[in-house]
Amino acid sequence: MILPRLLIPVETATAETRVAASPETVKKFIGLGCSVAIERGAGASAGFVDSAYTEAGAELVSVADAQAWGQADLLLCVQTPAAQNLARLRHGALVVGLLSPYSNQALASSLQSGGLSAMALELLPRISRAQSADALSSQANIAGYKSVLLASAALDRYFPMLMTAAGTVQPAKVVILGAGVAGLQAVATARRLGAVVFVSDIRPAVKEQVESLGARFIEPPELEDKPSESGGYAKQASEAFLAAQRQQLSDQLAEADVAICTAQVPGRQAPRLISEDMLDRMRPGSVVVDLAVAQGGNCADTKPSQTVDRKGVKLVGANDLPCTVPNHASALYARNLLALLEPTLKDGQLSLDPDDELIAGCLIAQDGSIRRGDVLTPGAN
Ligand code: NAI
Repeated sequence: MILPRLLIPVETATAETRVAASPETVKKFIGLGCSVAIERGAGASAGFVDSAYTEAGAELVSVADAQAWGQADLLLCVQTPAAQNLARLRHGALVVGLLSPYSNQALASSLQSGGLSAMALELLPRISRAQSADALSSQANIAGYKSVLLASAALDRYFPMLMTAAGTVQPAKVVILGAGVAGLQAVATARRLGAVVFVSDIRPAVKEQVESLGARFIEPPELEDKPSESGGYAKQASEAFLAAQRQQLSDQLAEADVAICTAQVPGRQAPRLISEDMLDRMRPGSVVVDLAVAQGGNCADTKPSQTVDRKGVKLVGANDLPCTVPNHASALYARNLLALLEPTLKDGQLSLDPDDELIAGCLIAQDGSIRRGDVLTPGAN
């Protein structure tokens, strides 16, 4: 029996602080019959020291040690490794991570030329069996929480209502755009800090969830061409719908202290929900945190990883919030990977069943042949 060999690399993407395995998950993978190699320092920025991994049974290897890459059967990563490192993997090796698969021709080429298999966690179907492996959710949850902390730190006011000897302070008004995983966690966090919270989403199904967290739901505009949803995700809204929605949000934002933008449509540009005109109506001192900034932004003028002062309104481009909570982000992400792979590791062998709905959704390539060309290279024949 040949034990599957896992490799955990140092993440090389800019500003990435997470790691794909924790000492806890290393121990569990070894218990499942795997051997684990980890690059020196891979967990350092997430608070996991090398000795914790060796105590869990991993072998330390030098960074980008070509031999270690060549021997790996399974590469667990957070973001896609550099092409020159992927090229070191042996034919048939499996790469698992948040691989940014949408229209990613460069990734498709690396997988094809290297004869690699790959699972992109972004494409995991949103079914109940997949919940423990759902890395988008574990990371979005962190982003939603941290977005509110950033907003409260940047705001020139209190969040809660306070009765003080000097008089009463009114609670902050927070408007949250998008009530998916990040948005709902932002609602919960803002409510815990005592803010009054309003929420906009185009999926009417979220109204109940929003209200159960003590926030008020802004009903989507009543138009004939309402955007539909599929698999729990929103589909792209028409320009007419978005214009009606902006009109509706403009008055809400004029009275808001904070706007938190989390509205996304998978694989597409994020919908533009806050225009320059709407920003002009916001009061100086208010704050907008845009979690969709890397997908084009829900808000005009936001810039990735930057805070811009626009006529006194602070615009926070919050594209990498999970990386600012690296220990928990990594620990949860590592558990997501373990939950995904555990059923595929049987009798000391790694076997992927492409008929399994869960595998079929996210297995973008197998032994160099592209299985999800619809995502990786849409439009190509
Ligand atoms: P997401 O990050 O793709 O989008 C965030 C939110 O933005 C969504 O609620 C979407 O409806 C909203 N949105 C899109 N366009 C908008 C617009 N123009 N205006 C306002 N809001 C807009 O979504 P996320 O957080 O990944 O979750 C999507 C769904 O998947 C949710 O229903 C969630 O409950 C469900 N889910 C299911 C899981 C499972 O069953 N395994 C696990 C995680 C989430």
